[in-house]
Amino acid sequence: ATVVYDFNVSWAAASPDGLAKRQVIGINQQWPPPRIDAQVGDRLIVNLLNSLGDQDTSLHFHGLFMNGSTHMDGSSMVTQCPIPPGASFTYNFTIDQPGTYWYHSHAQGQYPDGLRGPLIIHDPKTPFQYDQELVLTVSDWYHEPMSVLQPRFMSKYNPTGAEPIPNAALMNDTQNLTIPMIPERTYSFRMANIGAFAGQYIWIEGHNMTIVEMDGVYVHPTETSMIYLSAAQRCSFLVKAKRETSRNFPMIASMDTTLFDTTPPSLNPNVTSYLLYNNTAPLPTPSPLDSFTPLDDTHLHPRDNLGILPLPDQAITLNISMSNLASGANYAFFNNITYVAPLVPTLYTVLSSPNSSSFELTANAQIYGTYTHPYILPHHSIIQLVLNNLDTGRHPFHLHGHNFQVLHRSGPDEGPWWSTSSNLNEPSYNHTIKAPPMRRDTLLVEPNGNAVLRFRADNPGVWLFHCHIEWHMISGLAATFVEAPSILQRTLQVPEDHFSACKRKDGKGKDI
Ligand code: C2O
Repeated sequence: ATVVYDFNVSWAAASPDGLAKRQVIGINQQWPPPRIDAQVGDRLIVNLLNSLGDQDTSLHFHGLFMNGSTHMDGSSMVTQCPIPPGASFTYNFTIDQPGTYWYHSHAQGQYPDGLRGPLIIHDPKTPFQYDQELVLTVSDWYHEPMSVLQPRFMSKYNPTGAEPIPNAALMNDTQNLTIPMIPERTYSFRMANIGAFAGQYIWIEGHNMTIVEMDGVYVHPTETSMIYLSAAQRCSFLVKAKRETSRNFPMIASMDTTLFDTTPPSLNPNVTSYLLYNNTAPLPTPSPLDSFTPLDDTHLHPRDNLGILPLPDQAITLNISMSNLASGANYAFFNNITYVAPLVPTLYTVLSSPNSSSFELTANAQIYGTYTHPYILPHHSIIQLVLNNLDTGRHPFHLHGHNFQVLHRSGPDEGPWWSTSSNLNEPSYNHTIKAPPMRRDTLLVEPNGNAVLRFRADNPGVWLFHCHIEWHMISGLAATFVEAPSILQRTLQVPEDHFSACKRKDGKGKDI
């Protein structure tokens, strides 16, 4: 089927935590923005009109592979020009992955102002039994808009790069959620962290969660009492309702305060919702965070039992660091390069570059610009990505257009991965991971720790790889994967109106 959404993106007002009513970015005069629902095999069309008046925008459909439609990935200055005020743009692509996803603005620094929501791809052949589905989001929330927070963050008066501390945690964009429970029913909770910064610990007192899906990957059912979702991670879990209805139970999302430079005494890192069995029974106070242990997502196994991919053809090592540049502001780096968006979307550069059979080999940083940190991935090659986090913070890394196998992830403070690109044949990649290795599209890497990821370059496109903490995106923690460019040149059909976002009428940006 074809599923069509008309999204008029404009400013609205909201106070999801009951404090500090503020301007937010809504859709069709509503905030929170609507959920997108579609089915595997559907064509999704989103007709977007930018009515913000003062800001560009774009939409990214996080976790969808966009196979054959990299130009619909929504990544501003990577696969399209941001859509200027007054202009419209049509996203149009087919979906062949079931699971829990989300959409968000991919114009820099914009989604924390509220332009984000859940995207559910339903599966008529779902392999799990349940009676009812519930979609939940968790997120952090700021009382001040990005127009205030962003310049303050990227200034010489913030030389340490201290990220703004969120003011509140939200569940389904509120702090007053109750979920009526029907005894003995099995619920499938789909949960997405649509926040800008904070990872969240999630637990339901008195109930176990059976994890069945993560980032769109079905996994062998695994029970836990707590999960951790970094910014941009998603999961589905089954919860069996109790038979007995005398009590109610808290469900908590608690922001990971280790990410914060300071925790102001006024901050409540938790949002508490309730599983409601009994309207007249009290709403109990939750137990402390440390009464539970979160599941290690690298111990999950995909239901398809896909084994470890063959040894890599290419190894990419990315060392993550933070440091000041001459302006005095703090920037983030992969291998000492801080990402700067190009003047022309990288995809357009691919499409307009001279075509030759050796293009894939000769195309390099000179064509794409060093500052976009480009890596050329030959078609069907196996890529190994080694992440060495030399920084003292946790980072959730996300790859567009793919998910990746997690072959290794160290604990905090274990230092860089010892292997280098000259040592691709090291057999013991899985010394912490049992096969089949977990696959996902967003992975948390520990402070001064490392991770080893592997994927097959089977999806020609231009894909961003970045930290999903929006502050770190703003400070440049991103790289560009240019996958099979000569195939894109030969086969990608980009509609003429795709380029119209680059023709500006407001005179603000560059008309390309
Ligand atoms: Cu949620 Cu660049 O992605």
